[in-house]
Amino acid sequence: MILSLVNVKGGVGKTTTAVNLGATLARSGLRVLIVDLDPQGSASFSLGITEKDARPSAADLLLGDRPIREVIRETGRPGLDLVTGSMELAEGDLTLARKRDPERQLARALAPVRRRYDFIIIDCPPGLSVLSLNGLAASKAYVVPVVPHDLDMEALNRFFGGMDRIQHAIHRHPPLLGILLTMVDHRTRVTDEVVAGIRAAFGRDVFRTEIPINVRLAEAPGYGKSIFDYQSWSKGAQAYAHLGGEVISRSTKAGLV
Ligand SMILES: Nc1ncnc2c1ncn2[C@@H]1O[C@H](COP(=O)(O)OP(=O)(O)OP(=O)(O)O)[C@@H](O)[C@H]1O
Ligand SMILES: [Mg+2]
Repeated sequence: MILSLVNVKGGVGKTTTAVNLGATLARSGLRVLIVDLDPQGSASFSLGITEKDARPSAADLLLGDRPIREVIRETGRPGLDLVTGSMELAEGDLTLARKRDPERQLARALAPVRRRYDFIIIDCPPGLSVLSLNGLAASKAYVVPVVPHDLDMEALNRFFGGMDRIQHAIHRHPPLLGILLTMVDHRTRVTDEVVAGIRAAFGRDVFRTEIPINVRLAEAPGYGKSIFDYQSWSKGAQAYAHLGGEVISRSTKAGLV
């Protein structure tokens, strides 16, 4: 199963979800690879790898044709491997444009190791640049994290419209595995209203699991730790563990694993 975390919006919990979903799946005994496609390298940083140690990275895979075996690294956590992101990815638009099938480079690069993993989780940068298109084109499904308290329903509908056009353009139609409500703060009434609204509008396309706002989730990356290494009893850890179960059951039901 290969899935991408995508949203045009920044700061909605894509990276936090990629890292902690990957970590919980690995802890349940699955073989997991996280691919960091963001030039900011936040997922790599969250797993303890700083920019100066980020090479070789996904940039060497996509832009430099380096074989994936030389780019994958172990994270020191059983079952959890990583392809880092690095600044050079920011040159992706220019460099990839010169290649044939610019949006297929990640799919091509992952092909030799696909069977080695139960889950490959791709953390896309915000937006729908050629990097995110590479993530989508390599994926069997995608997940859209949204933050209810600053959700603009029209913008979300426009985003799904944009996704349709892009999927046509790249001739790949990975299904939506689910919309994930993140940083949910039920102390404010507006959150309750928006959550109810989005569940009414999108129904079963919304994960039942909600990720609450939880300061431990924001602290863990600074220590280079997943929430399970940092505070496995926190509300954030419980929520991501629960999400892991739901991702497995949805993937199984959809015949994707
Ligand atoms: N459930 C949560 N509770 C509290 N803080 C959170 C939660 N989820 C994410 N954060 C924090 O919010 C910020 C944005 O999260 P994150 O980096 O995961 O979003 P993103 O969508 O990957 O952002 P970008 O678009 O910049 O890549 C980070 O500082 C992160 O630590
Ligand atoms: Mg991110």
